[in-house]
Amino acid sequence: MPFKIDDLQRAFLAYKQFQKRALRPCDERYIFPFFAGSYFAYRKVDVARIVAIANSISSAPIYIDVGCGYGDFLNKIREFIPDAIGIEKEKNIFFALNKPIPDYIYSIPIECFEKKKFDVAFVGWMEPGVDFRKNVAQSAKCVITTFDSGGQCGVNGGCEYDEFGFDEIAWWRTPSWIDVNYELMNRFYTDSITTNELKKQELAKFRSAHNFWYVYAKPEVYDDAKNGLKMCLEEERGGLHCNDNYDFESVLDECGFHYTEELMTVRTCKLLWDVKFAS
Ligand SMILES: C[S@@+](CC[C@H](N)C(=O)[O-])C[C@H]1O[C@@H](n2cnc3c(N)ncnc32)[C@H](O)[C@@H]1O
Repeated sequence: MPFKIDDLQRAFLAYKQFQKRALRPCDERYIFPFFAGSYFAYRKVDVARIVAIANSISSAPIYIDVGCGYGDFLNKIREFIPDAIGIEKEKNIFFALNKPIPDYIYSIPIECFEKKKFDVAFVGWMEPGVDFRKNVAQSAKCVITTFDSGGQCGVNGGCEYDEFGFDEIAWWRTPSWIDVNYELMNRFYTDSITTNELKKQELAKFRSAHNFWYVYAKPEVYDDAKNGLKMCLEEERGGLHCNDNYDFESVLDECGFHYTEELMTVRTCKLLWDVKFAS
């Protein structure tokens, strides 16, 4: 489902309008995820986990974000792994908005990218119907991917990498940006609801979308990557990352998507950001 440039430009105009009257600037990433955020909601702990995994595989990890869009998440990673690069098939997304393409984002499809081995490949949300896992798998020792609970890849739905010779290390859940968006709209942007506290609480019960993060590794880096994640979680439990959040995380808190918040609508593993290791 590739972008249509006209649609992109129209959406960008709406985004600019929103910015002009935005009383709550941190909301924009959950309303215009492509322009001002990402298609998955994250906190700094997610960045810390991924950086820890990468650093456990190599002291100078070679990192790629495949399908990075404008590079919102990639830029966060680059604060810790400055040589991290991105690849984004659609150079038109930059042209359409008259944005320069950063020199660390390569605007070609992964299928045509020079064959190089990466310690970590990150895939942040492939559009439904798009599936470039085979190419990612060929070029990475460790793959970290996010996908939504509705199923995206091929007939089986999930975007797993087991079939490409990877073993699952762990997974966790974060809110879907769509749920954050609904919550924001209900709480702050819909007059008939913003004043009705009961209605807000009722609607909050319906949030059920969420986003999975899966970590896969090839056998040669499996133990290192797993230990890196475990060490990061120990730091998290010790509170190391607690006071060092991105400003936009306040929106997640405000909308009831706290770190380790319990999701009432799922049956098992109900806590957001709770990491489950594969047995
Ligand atoms: C849903 S967007 C997600 C963008 C970003 N990761 C995020 O979460 O905001 C998927 C991106 O993957 C890009 N893409 C799709 N197929 C690709 C391919 N074969 N190679 C590189 N990028 C691709 C699309 O152009 C799009 O920008």
